[in-house]
Amino acid sequence: MSDLSPDLARCAEALAQRRRDARVVARTGSTNDDARAWAQSGAPHGAVVIADTQERGRGRHGRAWSSPPGESLALSVVLRPRVAPTALPPIALVAGLAARSAVARRLSAPVAVKWPNDLLLDERGHLRKLAGVLVEGAIAGMRVDHVVVGIGINVARTEFPPELAHLATSLARAGATDLDRGSLALEVLDALDEELAAWTLAPETIGSRLRPHDAILGRAVLLEGDVRGIADGIDPDGRLRVRVDDELRRAHAGEVRLARVTTDDG
Ligand code: BTN
Repeated sequence: MSDLSPDLARCAEALAQRRRDARVVARTGSTNDDARAWAQSGAPHGAVVIADTQERGRGRHGRAWSSPPGESLALSVVLRPRVAPTALPPIALVAGLAARSAVARRLSAPVAVKWPNDLLLDERGHLRKLAGVLVEGAIAGMRVDHVVVGIGINVARTEFPPELAHLATSLARAGATDLDRGSLALEVLDALDEELAAWTLAPETIGSRLRPHDAILGRAVLLEGDVRGIADGIDPDGRLRVRVDDELRRAHAGEVRLARVTTDDG
């Protein structure tokens, strides 16, 4: 553990004191892969993998997710929710709300959750991506064996490649002074426990919990076939409600995009 950066070394100690199953490493391929392998060999609910840097970090749709050493938080948690596989989609929002509450404490600008998996920051009228969530699950018959919730947060990063420069941001770029990834990880984990408990108790409230922080509520979106509508919040099953003229339609992730491109997810 000696090659760990000081902030993550302190985090590893704190997790050990809390008796949380945790693997905090300096370098890995992808924390989601590590968490999945650990889950397959029996990791309990709440087990967490954190890395200083990932060599093959990935996002949704097979995109690469870059985590340069010392500059971002890469964290994956094993969950064993007792829900049917069909009830899983809102988990990305549950994780997004948890990450939002941890980063929002460090920023004066509002942080919003963009359905289904992004955290966006308003930088002088431009919505830029601060963090992303990648949920991957294993289904065993009719039940969920485990879910891996991966969260990547741009922390100290100030330089992005040209193709991301106008789409991405970080806590440092947004003026945060507390860039300690260890305390951020602990706060994300605490918030995730709270959001999961609230969702488990009352899954139907996910829409109202998201509403005050919803990045696309009231915004123009395009459904398949370029049908234009207005985002109208989230259903308990995690689908986006879209008002098209007088009709309310419901869309899964991947079936809808913002009418004006503001992030790499469109
Ligand atoms: C996205 O925006 O498409 C999701 C990005 C998720 C990145 C995180 S970093 C920790 C975990 N490990 C990965 O390989 N991906 C997730």
